[in-house]
Amino acid sequence: MTVMLELNNVSKSFVKKTGQGIVRINAVDNVSLSVTEQSNVGIIGESGSGKTTLGRIMTKLTEPDSGLITYRSVNVTGKKRKKLSEFRREVQMIFQDPYSSLDPRMSVRAAIADFMKLGGNEPDQEHISRYLSMVNLDDDILDKRPRDISGGQRQRVAVARVLALNPRIIVADEPVSALDVSIRSQVLTMFQDIRRRAGITFVYITHDISTLPYVAEQMHVMYRGRIVESCDIRSLISEPLHPYTMGLLAAVPDFNKDTADISRHIKSTSDVDMVPEHGCSFYYRCAHALPVCKDVDPPLAEQEKGRLVACHLYGSREASNGEEADDHFRNVEKK
Ligand SMILES: Nc1ncnc2c1ncn2[C@@H]1O[C@H](COP(=O)(O)OP(=O)(O)OP(=O)(O)O)[C@@H](O)[C@H]1O
Ligand code: SF4
Ligand SMILES: [Mg+2]
Repeated sequence: MTVMLELNNVSKSFVKKTGQGIVRINAVDNVSLSVTEQSNVGIIGESGSGKTTLGRIMTKLTEPDSGLITYRSVNVTGKKRKKLSEFRREVQMIFQDPYSSLDPRMSVRAAIADFMKLGGNEPDQEHISRYLSMVNLDDDILDKRPRDISGGQRQRVAVARVLALNPRIIVADEPVSALDVSIRSQVLTMFQDIRRRAGITFVYITHDISTLPYVAEQMHVMYRGRIVESCDIRSLISEPLHPYTMGLLAAVPDFNKDTADISRHIKSTSDVDMVPEHGCSFYYRCAHALPVCKDVDPPLAEQEKGRLVACHLYGSREASNGEEADDHFRNVEKK
């Protein structure tokens, strides 16, 4: 499988005013991942975990403070998106709120024609209709403006417009969370149809784990700017390894089996922002924490082929003291 896009140890921090004064937030912290051609990548995590920042780094809408970005074997780090004509056309982002990405003065026809021109093609009715049909819309919408159509139609138009550029990768950031629950599955199914028909690589960003069945293949779970677990979707749902992933799944009735109780994995604490100085950033929320977790930050390590997890309960026995982890598992199994 050809790697299209690769991030190596990318980080991005922001300075933010909070109740405690000005703090530096590591929105994306040392993240590495690769996106292979025509794959379907999912990024999941709760609000503020850094998903949008990571998506913006992938599409070069935000430049990381450090790390390397490679697109089709070319190092694009530090280069302005504007100056990268191929990247600019081929790697696109779709946002949660289609209203903000569409020009309110432009008709649907003009919006798609505009992007065709940007992609170096002369707009014509046949192609405009084809892009619309790819998102299951008819020509009778062509002369309407964003305010005249529904939220679901607006998101479809935003996608049709991006398709007019013939992209190779689409990063979709919470593309259905602003839509009515009743049409979310239709729009997600549409994304998958497009992926299959047009051979586009998809990166799907969401905080809503219940939409996961619509995204397949490689999943990355984010917590506080880091990837804490990576694996294929089936393994993630059937056998989550990281306590945070276990908690996310336990919160969704469709996915939890015997682990209906989220508190078995995530402690309820009023101070979710507390993080030990050197240890695991999930320590104060983790119902499985070992003493070592407070002092040693667990690296993201491979447990088996294609399964990575950053947690002392697995693998990194040198750092975690294997006996401690073994005792923990024995206790969990007894429960
Ligand atoms: N431009 C910015 N300036 C300051 N802080 C920012 C900026 N962008 C993001 N952040 C902070 O970085 C952290 C990660 O934000 P990000 O939007 O990437 O998270 P997210 O996972 O997409 O969250 P959500 O699910 O709410 O969309 C948050 O604490 C956020 O407040
Ligand atoms: S390293 Fe420790 S605190 Fe962190 S998730 Fe694993 S068990 Fe919990
Ligand atoms: Mg976001």
